[in-house]
Amino acid sequence: MKKFLGSNKLKTAVFISGSGSNLKNLIKFSFSKKSPIKIVFVVSNNSKAKGLVFANKNKIHKKTFKFNNKTKDENEILRYLKKKDINLICLAGFMEILSKNFIKKFNGKILNIHPSLLPKYKGLNTHLRAIQNKEKFSGCTIHFVTSKLDSGKIIMQKKVKISKGDTPKKLSKKILKQEHNLYPKAILKLFSNS
Ligand code: GRF
Repeated sequence: MKKFLGSNKLKTAVFISGSGSNLKNLIKFSFSKKSPIKIVFVVSNNSKAKGLVFANKNKIHKKTFKFNNKTKDENEILRYLKKKDINLICLAGFMEILSKNFIKKFNGKILNIHPSLLPKYKGLNTHLRAIQNKEKFSGCTIHFVTSKLDSGKIIMQKKVKISKGDTPKKLSKKILKQEHNLYPKAILKLFSNS
């Protein structure tokens, strides 16, 4: 993996669909001196995504693509990414599945955060399934995105204990807190020189 060189921060796009707490956290991280990334573009598939407010607040260009026509929208996104010279994509709660063609164009340059200890609990409703299966631990994973859902190479994981009485909502809160630590850590692991 190419390391980040001096002041040339990696131009990064973050893709979101919802509340955007990971986006908010990545923006904060990107402003730190040690950060190898600069967030220059936010993509959403939902114009009502709460997280878009963090793009506004920080004057980051944002754009919504409805994904009614996936091929057309992905091609338009790719044009934007090229124009903006984007070299890293961070998916953060993005609820669309990107096509093989799209992923190929950014091969090895798309990261995702998933709220489980992959390879366990790929897909949706991870917290509910982990609790129902009486797991002692769940957690979160940062991994590379490939065309197989939630199956790309794992970069980093953080375990979180499931306590008696944890509901999916409670567990999701606990894990989200760890996600906010883990995403910057994984980015530093991949791209930092030190
Ligand atoms: C996170 O739990 C993330 O792991 C999952 O979707 C959630 C997004 O949360 N993929 P937020 O929008 O970053 O607050």
